[in-house]
Amino acid sequence: MTERAPVLTIDGPSGSGKGTIATLVARELGWHLLDSGALYRLVALGAGRHNIDLADADSLAEYAASLDVCFELPPGTAEVVTRLEGLPVGDAIRSETCGNAASKVAALGAVRQALLQRQRDFRRTPGLVADGRDMGTVVFPDAELKIFLTASVAERAQRRYKQLIQKGISANLPDLLTEIAERDARDTQRTVSPLKPADDAVVLDTSELSIEETRNRVINLYRDRFAPSRQ
Ligand code: DC
Repeated sequence: MTERAPVLTIDGPSGSGKGTIATLVARELGWHLLDSGALYRLVALGAGRHNIDLADADSLAEYAASLDVCFELPPGTAEVVTRLEGLPVGDAIRSETCGNAASKVAALGAVRQALLQRQRDFRRTPGLVADGRDMGTVVFPDAELKIFLTASVAERAQRRYKQLIQKGISANLPDLLTEIAERDARDTQRTVSPLKPADDAVVLDTSELSIEETRNRVINLYRDRFAPSRQ
């Protein structure tokens, strides 16, 4: 029988820091990484390029099912290179426009269903860190450790603002606050796979925590539960 690889899920709203923390934890443990939000962003980006209407659930699901995507981590680099239909997407999937379109696409049950098995296929030894909204509730309900990261809307808008400015993408704080609040509402109130902590998730509020502190808490939670002898 093949050994089942362990999974650590990190869910939470936009700007809670889950992408950064998931990357750091995956690197520390030497595990694979699934950025599930990138899949929804890629469906949104590709739909735009192929003129698929964001309200056309059937065509979007068909596109999602055959999504031609690959994630590469070239040796010696820190940034994942994401390719859509063979070409690197660069920062195109990180814009607020793409994030908002992704949130709409992600509210469609047929699209979520089309991406379900593809996400589960990322589970490979020695282990997987999966970040998203429904990793602990729907995609990997049997995960070994489930973390739910949260932070106040103001703090998350501030973080997103800094992130965008650093990348040279123009941003406006009041607009970001409104957009984050709207996206939260859409992600938490949708009927399919709404954003919520799994019953067995550890909830961490990162409003007052640095990236380093959050990373250490997650690593310690993992080690306390599963590898106490390695400390
Ligand atoms: O994490 P992110 O901002 O890259 O996600 C983009 C959008 O995709 C976000 O609005 C919510 C959605 N999403 C989702 O519904 N389920 C996931 N597992 C990951 C992201």
